[in-house]
Amino acid sequence: AENQMWGGRFSEGPSAIMEAINASIDIDKRLWREDIAGSRAHATMLAEASIISANDRDAILGGLDQVAAEIEDGTFKFSHALEDIHMNIEARLKEIIGEPAGRLHTARSRNDQVATDFRLWCRNACDEAERGLKDLMQALARRAEENAATVMPGFTHLQTAQPVTLGHHLLAYVEMFSRDASRFADARRRMNECPLGSAALAGTPFPIDRSATANALGFDNPCANSLDGVSSRDFALELLSAAAIAATHLSRLAEELVLWTSPQFGFAALSDAFSTGSSIMPQKRNPDAAELVRAKTGRITGSLNLLLNVMKALPLAYAKDLQEDKAATFEAVDALALAVAAMTGMIGDFKPNPENMKAAAARGFSTATDLADWLVRELGFPFRDAHHVTGRIVAVADAQSVRLDELSLAEMQAVEPKIHQGIFDVLSVDASVASRKAYGGTAPENVKNQAQRWIAALKKE
Ligand code: ARG
Repeated sequence: AENQMWGGRFSEGPSAIMEAINASIDIDKRLWREDIAGSRAHATMLAEASIISANDRDAILGGLDQVAAEIEDGTFKFSHALEDIHMNIEARLKEIIGEPAGRLHTARSRNDQVATDFRLWCRNACDEAERGLKDLMQALARRAEENAATVMPGFTHLQTAQPVTLGHHLLAYVEMFSRDASRFADARRRMNECPLGSAALAGTPFPIDRSATANALGFDNPCANSLDGVSSRDFALELLSAAAIAATHLSRLAEELVLWTSPQFGFAALSDAFSTGSSIMPQKRNPDAAELVRAKTGRITGSLNLLLNVMKALPLAYAKDLQEDKAATFEAVDALALAVAAMTGMIGDFKPNPENMKAAAARGFSTATDLADWLVRELGFPFRDAHHVTGRIVAVADAQSVRLDELSLAEMQAVEPKIHQGIFDVLSVDASVASRKAYGGTAPENVKNQAQRWIAALKKE
């Protein structure tokens, strides 16, 4: 049978394959709330502008309430033949209220309808992503405050570099996630313009009030250009970009949890709630959630890449290619929400092992820079000379397989006679972190202040 929405010039229905490639209802049914909100705003405006009667408006609004109730309680029958959420809802509305349903689509096209629905959905996704990231930041800041003085090795090239504190390390991620949260807020601000009323592509001859629908739907203003309104998806690209960057940060932290919880590092353990066992090896505690967070990043950056490729070289205005925007975006937003929640859970109750971390921090001559800095401060050496002297002392310690603070004063003086007892004040890992008090450094008092600043800031919102 021909299509009831556009079957006028058709005498035959679509092939099964046509229907299969064309139908998006399984994916875009998620837009039902947005679609009904858009239709309500549109019908209300049409009546206000005397384009439809008040009676028709009331019939439409009442019918939409019933459609919403049916979808909510699961009795709504979604149909592939009706392609997408827009036609499914309109067809059901017609069954319920009859003739007035046919007036709803006056001065509107599915092109501006779907662009509006999708913007509304993406706007909400930005808000939720921001909220999720803030919960994660809160968990990180709390654990950072607890661990403001927990010494661990800091790495460059994954080689022991200088001691830092676990709190400082966790707060580095709070900084990253706070920028991620602000990227979502920023994307939201830019996407908050309403395409409704752009109609198919050229605008409409009906005397519609685009500001009224934009206002009713919480948009800042209507899109100023109808071609742009129906064919742009950079709002989704920005959402996906923000998601991809946040996911990349999550993945770095996930990778660190995988490393830290390995027996080789032994820096931390994940709680039972966020670990899995092995069906064959009874001793195992696997960090599956962290690994999956790491892997979800592939999906999310993949979705960004997918939509960039769909959009590339697409001529204006609407083309059906745009229908592929939703699967990619939904998948990325879902994956991000799950990854953020899993990370918040893992961070909330992972157990650091301060002894192992401290012992590891003391290995690898991690206070060599402190020794060199001491030579500069106490003895007035140029830094390059201090670096050279320190390198020779490290070689002595290395040959004896001892830490720098286990060398005797005489052994150090054999390399540089001016060195005195005061050197021992700076060779321990605790002294090293305590000395890094300049703004942004890892000194426990700095870390504590920063953690408390974040906790207070996140509470205020
Ligand atoms: N399901 C379509 C989409 O997601 C709705 C717009 C269809 N417009 C059209 N001219 N065929 O893009």
